[in-house]
Amino acid sequence: MENDWLLRFPGADVATLRARLTAKAAWVGQKKKGFLRYREPLANVAHLHAADCDLSGDVVTIGRANALSPGEQALVHQSLRAFMPWRKGPFSVFGIEVDAEWRSERKWNRLLPELPDLRGAVVADIGSNNGYYMFRMAAHKPAFVLGFEPFVQHYYAFWLLNGFARQKCLRTELLGIEDLNLFQESFDVIFCMGVLYHRPSPMEALKDLLAALKPGGVLLLESQAIPGTESIALFPETTYAKVPGTWFVPTASCLHNWLVRSGFKQVRLFCQHAMSAEEQRRTEWMRFESYQDFIDKQDPSRTIEGYPAPWRVFFKAVKQ
Ligand SMILES: C[S@@+](CC[C@H](N)C(=O)[O-])C[C@H]1O[C@@H](n2cnc3c(N)ncnc32)[C@H](O)[C@@H]1O
Repeated sequence: MENDWLLRFPGADVATLRARLTAKAAWVGQKKKGFLRYREPLANVAHLHAADCDLSGDVVTIGRANALSPGEQALVHQSLRAFMPWRKGPFSVFGIEVDAEWRSERKWNRLLPELPDLRGAVVADIGSNNGYYMFRMAAHKPAFVLGFEPFVQHYYAFWLLNGFARQKCLRTELLGIEDLNLFQESFDVIFCMGVLYHRPSPMEALKDLLAALKPGGVLLLESQAIPGTESIALFPETTYAKVPGTWFVPTASCLHNWLVRSGFKQVRLFCQHAMSAEEQRRTEWMRFESYQDFIDKQDPSRTIEGYPAPWRVFFKAVKQ
């Protein structure tokens, strides 16, 4: 039965989730919404499956180049191009190298020393995008990883990739962090990366993350941040580094306080670094503006709006 995966979550409000997912399926199914531009390329390659995947390296590798005929490979290439711009990667799909805007393997490698044991774990990835990190998680043999991704393009990009890779433990749904309160005490591990500064109420988001963890569960939280030692957050007038929908950009100490005051224990900052144009840049698969266009050319310590240029901070925290 559709949505049977929900039965994995005894603590979840399954009836409300079913209703919400049914409504979303009807919404994406409407012709006038234009999502056929994703569904058609997906359907065109639905018969192609990868005999082998390597999810353990920096490049998520799904299928080998010589596994397909030239015609099939052209079809896969066309389908992948339909999902541009590719934000997260890199991927190699039947030998086609998808060089995404972000070098996401760098973030994953920063997480690795702090990665909890994922073997047999029930995991959530909030803001999972095309699933790059979920594929990396799959190499660690979790029981199930649920990606929360409300953007239709990213949602279908995941289904395209996993249509080839067929990782049964991975699933993405058109859900947002605001749906997390329907999953009480449901996850052993939650990854929430690149999402918090997009929330108008970060404290509410953190409380929902805490409530969705099982007792003893672990949160891995990564966020954009401003440099500094004071416990303050920047509230941009309109955009931050040209990105609209950015609300509060905290210092590391501010985010530490948010985590503690929302009820997390053993809160620990384990990595912080300045952003750079090496990590986020324009590529053949993402032809729009990127990091170097967001930063003041005369003073790289400032964004184009004159705010402190972004850092990234990584926290690990536990629910007791
Ligand atoms: C900056 S990207 C971060 C992606 C990835 N987690 C990473 O760290 O590289 C933010 C992601 O969150 C998704 N997103 C946007 N609104 C969201 C919401 N309300 N709940 C969960 N994810 C959301 C975006 O579509 C996008 O994929």
